[in-house]
Parts: sequence; C-alpha cells; structure tokens
Amino acid sequence: MLRDRFGRSIDYLRLSVTDRCDLRCSYCIPKGFKNFEEPANWLGFAEIQRVVAAFARLGCHRIRLTGGEPLLRRNLPELIGMLASLPGVDDLSLSTNGTQLATQAGALKAAGLQRLNVSLDSLRRDCVASISGSDSLQQVLQGLSVARDAGFASIKINMVPLAGINDRDIDAMLAYCKAHGFILRLIEAMPMGHTGQQADGLDLSQLLSSLSQRHGLTPSAVSLGGGPARYWQSQDGSCTLGLITPMSQHFCASCNRVRLSVDGTLYMCLGQEEKLELRPLLRAGCSDAELEAAIRTAIELKPERHEFQQQPQQIMRFMSMTGG
Ligand code: GTP
Ligand code: 5AD
Ligand code: SF4
Repeated sequence: MLRDRFGRSIDYLRLSVTDRCDLRCSYCIPKGFKNFEEPANWLGFAEIQRVVAAFARLGCHRIRLTGGEPLLRRNLPELIGMLASLPGVDDLSLSTNGTQLATQAGALKAAGLQRLNVSLDSLRRDCVASISGSDSLQQVLQGLSVARDAGFASIKINMVPLAGINDRDIDAMLAYCKAHGFILRLIEAMPMGHTGQQADGLDLSQLLSSLSQRHGLTPSAVSLGGGPARYWQSQDGSCTLGLITPMSQHFCASCNRVRLSVDGTLYMCLGQEEKLELRPLLRAGCSDAELEAAIRTAIELKPERHEFQQQPQQIMRFMSMTGG
C-alpha cells in the first residue's frame, strides 16, 4: 500500500502516453505550440509496463491513460493489452478528445480497456471549433457512437464550461448525455501554463443550485470511478451529472493519485512542481526493488494540496504535459 505524509492512500496512476494532441483547446495548450518531447525520451511500452507493474505491486490498482491525446500514440491497444494482463490492475481507463475513437474504439475494448472519458465542450459546431481550434464535432460524435456500440461499461463526457463561450450549452449537453446513456461532468478550468487565451472557467459551486433545481437533481452516493467528481442524479435515475471543482471546492484532502508523463517524470500533484524522474533509473537497469523504493520516495514528496490560486501563477507546464 502506498500512503503519503498526509495519510492519503495512493491507488490511482494517471499515465500520459504522449504530450502531443491534434486539438488546441484554449484552456490546455497554446496555438502554435511545438515544443514537444523528443521521441528518444518517450518511455517505451516495456518501460511503461514495468513502472505500472511496480505501482500495482504497491497496491495502486487504477490506471488511466491520458495525453496529450493518448490515441495518437501508435499501437496503443498493444500497450493496453500489456497493462490489462498485469496482476493487481483492476481498473483500466482512458481519457481522450474522441477524434480517433471511431476507428479505435473496437480495438481498445478488445485489448481490455474498461472505461472511457471523452472531452466535449459543446454540441455547436462553431463553438467546438473555436474552443478546440478544429472543426472536430462530427468526428467526436461519431467516435462516441462507435464507442457506445463497442460496449464500454461507462462513458463520461468531460466539459469545461467557459463564461460567455459554452456556458449556455450545459442544458443541451445534459440532454444529449441523457439520450445516449453518457454521464456529463462539468470541470472548473485550472490555470496551467500560459496558453495565451485562457477564458474564465465557471464557478460550479455557484451554479449548482440553479442546475439542480432545473433538472431535479439530488446528491448521489454512487461512486463512478476513482476520480474527484461529485455526482448528482435525477429522481427517475435517467440523468447523472458530475462536478469537478478544483477551484471553488478543492478535493485535495482525499487525493489518491500521481501522474507519470511520457518522458518518465512522476508528478506528485497537478498544481505543484514536486516530481521525480524515473527514466534515468529505468535506463540504468535498476532492479524492481530499486524502482519500488524510488516510487515510495516520490510519494513522500507529495504536497498537501494545489496552489492554483496563488499569484503570480505558479504552474508553467501545460495541462497537455501531465494529462489533466
Ligand atoms: P474517473 O473518475 O476515474 O472516471 O476519472 P477522472 O475524473 O479522474 O479522470 P479524467 O481524466 O476524466 O479527469 C477529469 C478532469 O478532472 C481532469 O482533466 C482534471 O481537469 C480534473 N482532475 C482529475 N484529477 C485531478 C486531480 O487530481 N486534481 C485536480 N486538481 N484536478 C483533477
Ligand atoms: N482545466 C481543467 N480541465 C482541463 N482539461 C484540460 N485542460 C484543463 C484545464 N486547464 C481537461 C479536458 C479533458 C481532461 C483530460 O482535462 O477537458 O477532459
Ligand atoms: Fe491531488 Fe494535487 Fe489534484 Fe489536489 S490538485 S487533488 S493534491 S493532484
């Protein structure tokens, strides 16, 4: 079992398999950004499997693949198969922007992927294009439809509401998710890096009462995954809404996760700089015991909470580097 200095049990590893993305969402990565990690520094599949196996031996049983856009990593289903077969891994999930899902969903499911979270900020074509920098709405909707038919146990839609941009789309998104059996989650935008076009994220704690009145929502005790979302449900059970509120009501006291970036850096918190580089150790031929000891040392560095509110802004890496 991995436990940090604050008594939190770390059972969720988020693994970024690439820092590249085919979109440029305004809150995530700057337009024209080109400073991506060199392929020589990417952990290979065998290296990733070794790190995940070590985490699993230490009791970390939830693994989520992220990016950048994880489906841009070549042969991803092969990696999923390698991770799904590891003893101790019982929750294997993926967060994606959905643009490649139509062609890949079947292979991902067949390889052993259990759960999918898909980003979608609006159902209006122009709005999606203006937030993501790409006319991608139809591709993502098609991807979602194929993924649903592939039989994933759970599909969640992640929406980042931005004031004056897509905040008026929440009701339509909820109706779409209800019609298709998806779970909508609203996320407060976090200030990471200077994307140069950061719009204002909504305060979801303030929005909650009007949302729950309009849709007849009551708090739900169900746990839908291992993340920080809190859930609300309509009385007839036909509609579930999750809120992720890192800014207005943070959830760091129950944080259960760390992140591994594509170059093998273990980040202890989304909103802090503490980290430990595993790649040099792996490439120097460390033993399993040395790898486990390094992971335990890293967990000791985990800070109590993020400092997103601090000015000037502290975190200069973009969300796409650590995978949300
Ligand atoms: P499950 O609950 O297991 O389905 O997944 P999840 O919600 O942890 O995963 P997902 O990748 O969909 O995360 C959604 C978003 O929540 C992320 O992109 C972040 O914006 C936010 N988030 C997830 N984990 C953390 C965290 O540890 N800290 C903060 N501040 N935000 C997080
Ligand atoms: N703040 C909050 N969420 C973000 N995401 C990307 N950048 C940010 C940010 N600055 C979310 C995306 C995606 C998830 C993986 O990360 O919407 O759903
Ligand atoms: Fe954990 Fe840091 Fe996220 Fe807080 S901000 S929940 S401490 S990763």
